[in-house]
Amino acid sequence: MKISVIGVGYLGAVHAAGMAELGHDVVGLDVDARRVRQLEAGRAPFHEPGFDETLRRGLDLGRLRFTTEYEDIAGADVHFLGLGTPQRADGFGADLASLHAAVDALAAVLPARDGSPTLVVGKSTVPAGTARGLAERLERIEGVRLLWNPEFLREGFAVGDTLEPDRVVYGVRDPEAADAEIRMLDTVYAPILDGGTPRLVMGYEAAELVKVSANAFLATKISFINAISELCEATGADVTDVSRALGMDDRIGSRFLRAGVGFGGGCLPKDIRAFIASAEDLGVGQSLGFLREVDAINQRRRVRVVELAREMLGPLRGRRITVLGAAFKPDSDDVRDSPALEVASRLMAAGAHVTVTDPEALKNARGHVEGLVTVEDTAEALRGAELVLLLTEWRRYRDLDPSVAAELVAAPRIIDGRAVLDPRTWRAAGWELRALGRPDAPARAGTQVETAGQPAADEPPAAHEPPAAHEPPAAHGRAAAASTAGPDPAAPLLSRG
Ligand SMILES: NC(=O)c1ccc[n+]([C@@H]2O[C@H](COP(=O)([O-])OP(=O)(O)OC[C@H]3O[C@@H](n4cnc5c(N)ncnc54)[C@H](O)[C@@H]3O)[C@@H](O)[C@H]2O)c1
Repeated sequence: MKISVIGVGYLGAVHAAGMAELGHDVVGLDVDARRVRQLEAGRAPFHEPGFDETLRRGLDLGRLRFTTEYEDIAGADVHFLGLGTPQRADGFGADLASLHAAVDALAAVLPARDGSPTLVVGKSTVPAGTARGLAERLERIEGVRLLWNPEFLREGFAVGDTLEPDRVVYGVRDPEAADAEIRMLDTVYAPILDGGTPRLVMGYEAAELVKVSANAFLATKISFINAISELCEATGADVTDVSRALGMDDRIGSRFLRAGVGFGGGCLPKDIRAFIASAEDLGVGQSLGFLREVDAINQRRRVRVVELAREMLGPLRGRRITVLGAAFKPDSDDVRDSPALEVASRLMAAGAHVTVTDPEALKNARGHVEGLVTVEDTAEALRGAELVLLLTEWRRYRDLDPSVAAELVAAPRIIDGRAVLDPRTWRAAGWELRALGRPDAPARAGTQVETAGQPAADEPPAAHEPPAAHEPPAAHGRAAAASTAGPDPAAPLLSRG
């Protein structure tokens, strides 16, 4: 099938390469000419495990092209919309300007068709009601039909999630009268659906709500355990004990139940805010009032890390602090609303000399925070630090050897912002270790400390290679995505065997 993908950012570029992988003839379109040139040359514009290979395979097979011209996509059978929907500058709502601009530009080139329809398929995350509004405009063109097909991929696992999703959701104007368009999208996704992936058809608004509800639920779960973490700090309990025992309840589950510096990225924070704004616009603001607290708890954890730094160092002015991690999560170079970078910025504002290191995200980080000092090499970043903050749980930081790291720093002090280090091992190696929601001193006698070798709260007990926080290991045969960043020159020196 001839397919276009409009907007080839994190979502769209992976979707375009994924559709070529399924055997379709795909053109990706973006207004960012630099990004288009990079993709055409087979260079991924962002770090995403497995994406480079999928991109190059599509290009080599001649099934994948990129353009900046809407005329080049006019003849496609199916047009996917992968435009960004960031938070508006003037409030909580979603900024739909680029989505509307793309739909206008597409409508201007779409030919009228009889026979099989032309499908426009929205994948962006949007407030309920958006699809119906866009359908009013697009379906004035003979033969054009709009579906809303929200995307659930996770950065770091995007290729696997695109090709083997948990479920596929089709939002249509009228589920009883959409046979032709449903059949057509089924043809696009045939290899996925033939593999047994459930496909659910529902109205536009339900499809839009599934996506934002999923993100709101995940954000709530993270903030829930972070709220409990605050209780742990007040009582001396260890939040990892609480989350581990909680997660063993099948009704609760252990995923997204790791306390730490909280969620960030280009989706969860802006999606819950847009959801709040949308509920208020619909006159049911009270229903999602709790999401304001979810957001507030998440923000408080960032501030708490800075407070912990002050508790450990006293006044921060002039102190040398190293932040491990800049991306909002491991296996990604995305720094949008990154907790690590916000903490780094707050420390800088307090006068600290901050050095940030990350295997993939330093270029983006520099573009995000003015004056940020970055160092590629972990050992070099640690050298001379008076305090280390682990804020993005890349494998190389989880595996740091505390004895070797202690030799590099000026003073062995660390804040584990992701609850991934074993406090006993680190303290035994001479480190002063503080962690969100965990006791400062070793646990009291009689308390069972199950940390060494213990899988994190969001990981299945048998996981041999603990996956990144909030992410499962490669499940359902998805592409494995351990930390695939290039080797850190210091890794052999710093990693525990
Ligand atoms: N990134 C994720 O992990 C993820 C996962 C699920 C859903 N989503 C949703 O998918 C959407 C896209 O997210 P993203 O992270 O890929 O955003 P992004 O900012 O990385 O990509 C958007 C792309 O659209 C392009 N664009 C802007 N205006 C355009 C126009 N008029 N015509 C053509 N291209 C245009 C931009 O240049 C950019 O490359 C958002 O709604 C997001 O919430 C993202």
